[in-house]
Amino acid sequence: MLSPGEVTNVRRDDPLLPRPMAVFRQRPASGPESPSDVEVLYKVEGRGTALLAEAREGARIRLVGPLGRPFPTPRPGARVVVVGGGTGIASVYGLAAEAPSGSRSTLILGARSATDLMARADFEALPAILQFTTEDGSLGEKGLVTAPLERALAEGDVDTVYCCGPTPMMRACAERAAAAGVTCVVSLENNMACGFGVCLGCAAPRPAGDYALVCRDGPVFDASEIQWDGLP
Ligand SMILES: Cc1cc2nc3c(=O)[nH]c(=O)nc-3n(C[C@H](O)[C@H](O)[C@H](O)COP(=O)(O)OP(=O)(O)OC[C@H]3O[C@@H](n4cnc5c(N)ncnc54)[C@H](O)[C@@H]3O)c2cc1C
Ligand code: FES
Repeated sequence: MLSPGEVTNVRRDDPLLPRPMAVFRQRPASGPESPSDVEVLYKVEGRGTALLAEAREGARIRLVGPLGRPFPTPRPGARVVVVGGGTGIASVYGLAAEAPSGSRSTLILGARSATDLMARADFEALPAILQFTTEDGSLGEKGLVTAPLERALAEGDVDTVYCCGPTPMMRACAERAAAAGVTCVVSLENNMACGFGVCLGCAAPRPAGDYALVCRDGPVFDASEIQWDGLP
């Protein structure tokens, strides 16, 4: 959870709430005394991210984390399909980059247009089969991520589908995977206020009628644990 705005000796609470962000990339500490670098990749959506973008090198920003559960590591040798859409692309990079050697990854990244696609060069440098879809056809296949996902599932050897993006996209991917009898793991992007299970603002309904807290129990869930109709 990143609090937009530089930390100074002047108290400021605009905006009041921190903004949830994925760890895009992390460089491990080189020794016990050296800090590790954490990289966040974000799109300017509104006031909070606009303030974040104003931060200059050396600025101090309040951060609470890491929080929540990450994607489970793919089994060595397994074929996985990783689907990212919109800002959800930032959440799937680490999974694709750190897949154990021997696992076979197909990466499907979707955006409205080529200019909306974040970190394209970083993804192109990964040892994965990479497919782009854009709604306007300016990069890769014109249309939605579900079309290449359906083709990958039809090949029959997919072990798990991993997915992060807008809720309708994740739901559509989960439905395609379920129809093919393949496990689907999603990282939900519900709005959050506290990030650690106190405000109950991120509750997501489960099929049994109870609720999961996306910040504490997730944001990563097996898609079968989610009651999609009740999600915002
Ligand atoms: C677990 C998690 C991880 C995320 N990781 C990333 C990331 O790595 N990179 C990134 O760019 N974005 C990420 N997001 C989305 C990001 O948190 C929102 O874009 C951000 O909070 C918007 O804040 P704002 O003040 O700029 O915009 P606001 O003024 O608060 O809102 C502007 C627009 O953004 C939408 N929005 C607000 N909050 C969210 C949200 N939580 N999820 C989706 N849309 C939202 C609003 O509906 C509105 O349309 C993540 C969200 C979650 C829950
Ligand atoms: S964001 Fe507060 S409980 Fe999840």
